[in-house]
Amino acid sequence: MTDLIRVAVVGCGVIGRNHARVIDEHPAFELVAAVDPVAENSAALVAEHPGLKAYPTPQDALDEVDLVVICTPSGTHLALAQQAVAAGKHVVIEKPLDVDVARGIEFAGLARRAAEAGQVVTVISQHRFDPASAAVARAVHGGRFGKPTSAVASVAWWRDQDYYDSGAWRGTWRLDGGGALMNQGVHTADLLCLFLGRPIEVQASARLLAHERVEVEDTVAATVVFESGAIAVLLATTAAYPGLTARIQVHGTEGSAIIDNDRLEYFHAKAAGGRQPGGAGSVTGGAVTGNQAEAEVGLADTPAGPRSDHDFVLGHRRQYDDVAHAISAGARPGVTIDDALLSLAFVRAIYVSAALGQRILVADVLAGQYPDVHLDVRTS
Ligand SMILES: NC(=O)c1ccc[n+]([C@@H]2O[C@H](COP(=O)([O-])OP(=O)(O)OC[C@H]3O[C@@H](n4cnc5c(N)ncnc54)[C@H](O)[C@@H]3O)[C@@H](O)[C@H]2O)c1
Repeated sequence: MTDLIRVAVVGCGVIGRNHARVIDEHPAFELVAAVDPVAENSAALVAEHPGLKAYPTPQDALDEVDLVVICTPSGTHLALAQQAVAAGKHVVIEKPLDVDVARGIEFAGLARRAAEAGQVVTVISQHRFDPASAAVARAVHGGRFGKPTSAVASVAWWRDQDYYDSGAWRGTWRLDGGGALMNQGVHTADLLCLFLGRPIEVQASARLLAHERVEVEDTVAATVVFESGAIAVLLATTAAYPGLTARIQVHGTEGSAIIDNDRLEYFHAKAAGGRQPGGAGSVTGGAVTGNQAEAEVGLADTPAGPRSDHDFVLGHRRQYDDVAHAISAGARPGVTIDDALLSLAFVRAIYVSAALGQRILVADVLAGQYPDVHLDVRTS
């Protein structure tokens, strides 16, 4: 039997508790340390997982662990990750990579060197591991949709004022890095990159429309051009009462798919050998929907029904399978720091575009331009 991978969870808040549950139940890992400067928060995690040791800082726990999991406010991610990587540990960072592209660029260099030395350094993007996302990515990359042409992505959620008031870091540029897009919509922005490749230019508008006492947007819309020429529209909002779904439509010259709240709702692809399942010119003929769509791509076992707490843990569990495999096999993790850096630059480019009212090249953001451009959500 191989040794268990000993883990410290750094940041024992909402998502830290989720990680602890997944790690505790996973056969490859042993949860050993709960790190939080707020003793009450680490104590609450210890109460849920007896045997865990509580520490105020990650340095205190480093000697005890192989893997450090960063679940702290977004603007603190890379300072903490840097220390753990420098100490030779494997590192999992909650999304987003950070809020600052310059820090991300520097860290990506460190992470590449760490990967050469056998360390696994990755960022949580659990929806990349949803069976529906994986199936659509396979179809697009395998040419089953023909030439990818466009996508429509929306995260139409509702967060009440209590959510923003629940933590001083929420809704701040310095620690949250943005609102509906950086916090909630970054998963969907990341899936657009998974399906359509590199975004190269964006044009966006963003506003704060339904909340108070926050610096960031609760509603943002952008058009995006990808390197392949495909075009997408992206809406992210926490001001859509009572809260609808996260949805992505992907279209190509020979197929389309719709994922709604992680479920494959619609799938139509050119069949192997060039036959169109519905016949030429058919709009819905041959397309499959709902459970049939999932069966078409071999997802018959996906649990039915709306998104649940179970699904929330399930996404992280799938990504931890990937982390465990990468560590034990010395393999590249499914999400690299470069993947996460691209998604961060994509999101920042959207904010810069909304702030300046102009088209922005993602490459310029990745080259370190616009570090101080600040979006004023009342006027942008
Ligand atoms: N993948 C997802 O679906 C998902 C969902 C929710 C949150 N997140 C991400 O997880 C992160 C945390 O979000 P949350 O909702 O759990 O926040 P939270 O406020 O509930 O918890 C953050 C915790 O970090 C602790 N902390 C702050 N600074 C620290 C430090 N230097 N060292 C150790 N602990 C520190 C705080 O005391 C708190 O206990 C954010 O980056 C957020 O974007 C991801």
